[in-house]
Amino acid sequence: MNTDDVLPKDQRGEDYAGAKACMKCHQDLSTSYAHSAHGSTSRPVVNAELLAVFDRDSNTFHYDGQRKVIVEQRKNGIFQTAYLDGKQVRSEQFDIIFGSGEKAYTYGYWKGKKLYELPLSYFSAIQNWAISPGFPGNNYYYERGITSRCFECHGSYVEKKLTQNSAFSQEEEMETGSIIYGIDCERCHGPAKAHVVFHTENPDEKSAKFIAVFKSLSRKQKMDACGVCHSGNTLMSQQSVFSFKPGDDLDDFYVQDFRGFGGAELDVHGNQSTMLQSSACYVKSSAMTCQSCHQTHENIKGNLSAYSQKCMGCHQSIAHSKNTLSKGMLTANCIDCHMPKVASKLISFKQAGRDQVSPYPLRSHRIAIY
Ligand code: HEC
Ligand code: HEC
Ligand code: HEC
Ligand code: HEC
Ligand code: HEC
Ligand code: HEC
Ligand code: HEC
Repeated sequence: MNTDDVLPKDQRGEDYAGAKACMKCHQDLSTSYAHSAHGSTSRPVVNAELLAVFDRDSNTFHYDGQRKVIVEQRKNGIFQTAYLDGKQVRSEQFDIIFGSGEKAYTYGYWKGKKLYELPLSYFSAIQNWAISPGFPGNNYYYERGITSRCFECHGSYVEKKLTQNSAFSQEEEMETGSIIYGIDCERCHGPAKAHVVFHTENPDEKSAKFIAVFKSLSRKQKMDACGVCHSGNTLMSQQSVFSFKPGDDLDDFYVQDFRGFGGAELDVHGNQSTMLQSSACYVKSSAMTCQSCHQTHENIKGNLSAYSQKCMGCHQSIAHSKNTLSKGMLTANCIDCHMPKVASKLISFKQAGRDQVSPYPLRSHRIAIY
């Protein structure tokens, strides 16, 4: 069989096969993966799906007595419409979703080849709309650009072009047709066309060829493979991280950003890699990586006792004080004491009718005695 005829073209180039091509031989993984947080972290809006998420009664967000944004369904789509004293002033359609909904969904709308963030995001903890993180609290705002940088962590590919705006500023345009939504197989495993071709032609070969074998990577290479998206976004990329593949050195992609540029405009989240590397567990063991606790293709989310088993893999005897031991069965949940949920300093959200902002808690990956 000639694989070239069967495989559709992939936007990323000749070396890529596309996620559909993996189905044939890795069907279980492919099916379970479709519903994972990585797989669904960006996608185009499907109206029926969007409507199912929120409660029709709570779709008005009041900024004050005069200003509000209503999430409304119209003939040709779903919109976030701003009103001032009852008169419509702006209305933009939901085009794209960022976030699997684990904690939040943020939405974008296209204006030509530029993408902008809608004023309201949906926060799962409150099951309601709140002002998108980092937006002004007193008025609707529609001008915040969503750049290809968001896709670098929340997607698999987008083609971008810089256009000269004036002598001093450039603006980014994205080709909507080139987007590969979600984080797909080859985003993590690297281009796999040669792997697909080889195994199609050699069905009896049972060991993997022409693909990075994760187990055989060094510790730094393993950390880098996750750190490309999980080391925060105050880092500045010197080249697009879309081409990063397992085995590459992340230092060739990011430079530490000392000016805070980028971090000021983007929300900083997802910094598990740096946090973990500051833990005694990481520093004093030679083997700890993300895989010590997370298997990408296995879902134990919310199962803190399963995670605690992973701790006990390294900690068989623990010198807990009498006082700590008196707190009950410690073995069922090491996590809440040693990896507490900590509110993000940079993301918080504002609910309607409240002056206080609500926290956005994340699991601290600095494992320690708190
Ligand atoms: C024609 C069959 C076939 C297709 C199609 C295929 N693979 Fe594989 N793949 C294999 C075989 C055989 C192995 C070795 C046995 C195993 O690990 O399942 C393997 C193993 C792997 C491994 C494990 C490497 C390791 O760490 O040991 C990865 C990752 C992988 N494939 C990724 C992909 C991706 C991504 C695609 C789609 C772009 C894909 N495969 C399509 C046959 C295939
Ligand atoms: C291309 C960027 C990217 C790469 C590479 C990546 N992640 Fe993620 N990861 C994300 C994003 C974005 C989310 C948030 C998904 C959401 O809920 O919308 C996430 C969520 C997660 C979650 C929480 C959700 C869940 O599935 O339980 C874990 C755990 C995680 N990643 C671990 C890893 C590990 C381990 C690696 C390395 C093998 C890795 N990630 C590689 C971008 C990435
Ligand atoms: C977020 C990154 C990420 C994504 C996306 C991803 N994988 Fe993996 N995959 C890994 C890592 C890391 C391993 C090594 C073991 C582990 O952590 O589970 C792995 C292991 C594998 C293996 C070895 C067998 C196994 O079960 O451990 C195969 C085969 C595989 N992946 C195929 C795929 C296919 C097919 C897809 C798309 C449907 C995919 N992967 C998507 C990160 C990823
Ligand atoms: C450096 C990688 C990175 C960049 C850049 C990035 N994100 Fe994220 N984002 C993540 C990771 C990792 C998570 C999940 C874990 C966390 O928050 O620590 C996440 C979580 C989210 C969530 C919540 C998802 C959920 O299901 O709970 C939303 C929404 C989101 N990001 C939107 C955006 C938008 C919009 C942009 C661009 C303005 C952006 N992100 C830029 C890595 C990134
Ligand atoms: C890969 C092995 C490994 C895993 C997995 C592991 N640890 Fe550790 N941890 C260590 C090592 C090594 C030390 C340092 C011990 C020493 O200093 O003697 C340590 C230290 C600690 C400390 C003391 C921290 C300090 O600052 O003094 C705590 C608390 C801890 N671990 C809790 C945990 C918890 C909870 C988990 C699971 C979420 C976990 N560890 C998973 C290897 C591991
Ligand atoms: C010692 C165990 C351990 C290690 C190592 C570890 N994690 Fe986690 N991680 C956890 C636990 C426990 C949770 C919370 C799970 C839950 O609540 O279901 C978590 C949650 C997450 C989340 C979800 C965000 C949140 O705050 O809910 C992301 C993303 C994540 N881990 C990424 C990573 C990445 C990337 C690495 C490697 C740099 C890593 N983790 C290493 C134990 C670990
Ligand atoms: C109720 C909170 C709590 C729980 C649950 C808990 N710890 Fe601790 N842990 C502590 C405190 C507090 C200390 C500091 C010593 C003390 O006062 O007991 C500590 C100390 C430690 C240390 C450093 C002492 C040493 O032996 O090196 C390690 C390692 C550790 N815990 C691991 C774990 C693991 C693994 C689990 C789950 C099996 C766990 N802890 C469950 C609160 C807790």
